[in-house]
Amino acid sequence: MREHVWRASPSLAMIKYWGKAVPAAGTGDADIAGSNIPASFSLAVGLEGLYSETRVRLADDGMDRVMLAGREADPVRYAGFFSGLRLLLGVEHHWECCSENNFPTAAGLASSSSGFAALAAACAAASAAITGEPVPHELLSQAARIGSASAARAVWSGFVALRAGARSAEQVHAPDWWPALRVIVVRISDLPKEASSRDAMELTRLTSPYYQAWLEDSPRVYAEALGALAARDLGRLGPLIRASTMRMFGSMLGADPPVLYWLPQSVAVLQAVARLRRDGAMVWETMDAGPQVKLFCLDKEAEGVCHSLLGVLPELEGRLLVLRVGGGLARVG
Ligand code: PMV
Repeated sequence: MREHVWRASPSLAMIKYWGKAVPAAGTGDADIAGSNIPASFSLAVGLEGLYSETRVRLADDGMDRVMLAGREADPVRYAGFFSGLRLLLGVEHHWECCSENNFPTAAGLASSSSGFAALAAACAAASAAITGEPVPHELLSQAARIGSASAARAVWSGFVALRAGARSAEQVHAPDWWPALRVIVVRISDLPKEASSRDAMELTRLTSPYYQAWLEDSPRVYAEALGALAARDLGRLGPLIRASTMRMFGSMLGADPPVLYWLPQSVAVLQAVARLRRDGAMVWETMDAGPQVKLFCLDKEAEGVCHSLLGVLPELEGRLLVLRVGGGLARVG
């Protein structure tokens, strides 16, 4: 059986998604294809240079199987994704999949976004070889979303939006919209995170008194960020990136028990970045469901920011990565 190999890059949110829409009973949305729909608006970039690579064949034993970095993955985590994909593609077959990342898995570098995007594309390609029907990108985005909502964004390159209530993401601008924009990934820890984003956001939704306020704020921050991005204005976009990040964590801290992904080193970086900004640097921070910190700045400042960070936190030597905006899907075999 022919192997299909696809790559996808992680989708890093500038404006964050945190929390799923609750399907209304009896609307049909309770079915698997309508699951995992975001309740907040997100706006993200694809990260050039980092990727998940997934190899897929059609299975001949009627079982879906996923190997992650050489180890069999928990089938329960993938069951909904595969059922949803069969439903969306109108097929009955199963897939045998192997996935590898060229960066640490499950440590807050958005590996589930690239992982499910590459998985959806490679499985769909294997199916299309049988059905003869190419799968549109919009459907790949929907399928990837069932696995992980951020993965709906990772099928597109450049600047990508996923609206609250949407089943698929959309490209807002191609990567060359803002060639000067850079992301500095500060790798704080390579250990897997303790709480999955899936569980943590559900706990936040169910127990945090700040969750509703987080959702109410989301459309405004998103709309302002779209405007700042359209103007390529980091002075406007940066504070919105920071606000979206901190408000998301505020909602998590209000959960019972609270969700805290940060490590002391994450806080040290946040404080160092605030000092750089006070000294005039244009650099803005975001974090996800893990301890890593990611910074947005312009190419002309990236080297200086790295140099200054290493000056105050020399233990970060070898842990800073400067990336361009790019990403999306690529067929490699
Ligand atoms: O889609 P998930 O389960 O990987 O959740 C992503 C959540 C955040 O990374 C924290 C925010 C985002 O929009 O990517």
